[in-house]
Amino acid sequence: MQRVAGLDGMIVVSVPAGVSEPFRYDEEHTVLLMDWWHKSVYEQAVGLASDPLVFVNEPQSLLINGRGRFNCSSVAAGAGCNASSPECSLPTLFTAVPGKTYRLRIGSLTSLSSLNFEIQGHSMTVVEADGHYVNPVRVDSLFVYSGETYSVLVTADQDPSMSYWAASHVVGRERKTPSGLAVLRYAHNHSGPPRTLPPAGPAWNDTAPRMQQSRSIVAHPAHVEVPPARPDRELLLLNTQNRINNRVKWAINGVSLTFPPTPFLVSMKRGMYNNQQPPETYDYRSYDIASPPAINGTVASAAYRLGLGSVVDVVLQNTVALNGKSETHPWHLHGHDFWVLAYGDGKFDPDKDAAKFNLRDPVMKNTVALHPMGWTAVRFRADNPGVWLFHCHIEAHVYMGMGVVFEEGIDKVGRLPKAIMGCRF
Ligand SMILES: *[C@@H]1O[C@H](CO)[C@@H](O)[C@H](O)[C@H]1NC(C)=O
Ligand SMILES: *[C@@H]1O[C@H](CO)[C@@H](O)[C@H](O)[C@H]1NC(C)=O
Ligand SMILES: *[C@@H]1O[C@H](CO)[C@@H](O)[C@H](O)[C@H]1NC(C)=O
Ligand SMILES: *[C@@H]1O[C@H](CO)[C@@H](O)[C@H](O)[C@H]1NC(C)=O
Ligand SMILES: *[C@@H]1O[C@H](CO)[C@@H](O)[C@H](O)[C@H]1NC(C)=O
Repeated sequence: MQRVAGLDGMIVVSVPAGVSEPFRYDEEHTVLLMDWWHKSVYEQAVGLASDPLVFVNEPQSLLINGRGRFNCSSVAAGAGCNASSPECSLPTLFTAVPGKTYRLRIGSLTSLSSLNFEIQGHSMTVVEADGHYVNPVRVDSLFVYSGETYSVLVTADQDPSMSYWAASHVVGRERKTPSGLAVLRYAHNHSGPPRTLPPAGPAWNDTAPRMQQSRSIVAHPAHVEVPPARPDRELLLLNTQNRINNRVKWAINGVSLTFPPTPFLVSMKRGMYNNQQPPETYDYRSYDIASPPAINGTVASAAYRLGLGSVVDVVLQNTVALNGKSETHPWHLHGHDFWVLAYGDGKFDPDKDAAKFNLRDPVMKNTVALHPMGWTAVRFRADNPGVWLFHCHIEAHVYMGMGVVFEEGIDKVGRLPKAIMGCRF
């Protein structure tokens, strides 16, 4: 949970010299989105491990490039920042020169919040997602989930005598945190704060536009990597919130992940792993995803062992949590990118829904949203020897067991550094 404590940042990977990208822009800026709590990460962890569970609850602020505001309500209207309350000054997102086009590299490293990001009066064209070029999509605002990155192009084509709000808003959970705010200014004009109230953002509980944006993102026509036609193995992973040994946990097919005392990498490399394999599916014919979990979970440290080079489909299935609500879970895979084959509503039916997979131009990503009461299907090639985590990117959810582990080609992993082997070796 280090991210909750502020251990975060953005690395920009440039294309090699001589390689051109399928779009043009004049300048670029990074936009890192975060959420922020006043309670320390240690208090949060103790609460999550307690019975009854004390959830982290909603953040006190949303940050844009590390800057947030707290208790500055009078400043939102544009007044109130002065020498006695400098912390209420509004950060500048960037200063635009009229007519120029800017590439914004937007990343969300929130610990809990799903976000909507907008720049008042300026549309954005999405051109890249998680390091892959996408067929350009124009949006008025961008939904962005923890762990995701996007590049959008923004043209400074509005009245240069004004300044404009940039705002991040919570979606997917009832909005109790004020929107994150920054200001887009135009060069050479000493415009003050924006003259309007900050935008309110979309309804927090309207899932349809979020699903619609997810579905609209496909590979750029000149950069399609066609996925293998069929998988070698299919995993259908039911996401449930369970009460296990009097603790509230998240479980995948009834198994809540806990990290073993000896890392998987070490025990597998030493041939000492017990070979316990988690379930590959659940009873999808009779299971009711609209009721709190009908299966009793267990806590285990188990890994799916994949054939090196094999093609694996994973379908994530959402359900309602113990409180009867269904949440958004951004699932993030280490060590690979996957093709995003489909997003669906309701319950995935393996006999019918595989026909809906996009095998023509799916985008490749490494983080994908599982929408409330929906399912998400991805495909990847297990071609990176090692042990890899696939997990919900919400910090508290990982802590509560919402993840699975994949192993592939462990015999191809070279000698491990002594320092990680533990004192028994
Ligand atoms: C918010 O600010 C007001 C005065 O500016 C102060 O009276 C109040 O205690 C503050 N609230 C919190 C929670 O800090
Ligand atoms: C500074 O701002 C605070 C909060 O908006 C306000 O209460 C106070 O009167 C201001 N002080 C001056 C000197 O303007
Ligand atoms: C500043 O704003 C005025 C309108 O108030 C506009 O005519 C002018 O072009 C702007 N200058 C720049 C450099 O953007
Ligand atoms: C969304 O939540 C509001 C209350 O915050 C409620 O009035 C509205 O009916 C909800 N809409 C949907 C689609 O659930
Ligand atoms: C789950 O566990 C409870 C007791 O802990 C038991 O009463 C119930 O029958 C179990 N349910 C299933 C589906 O096994």
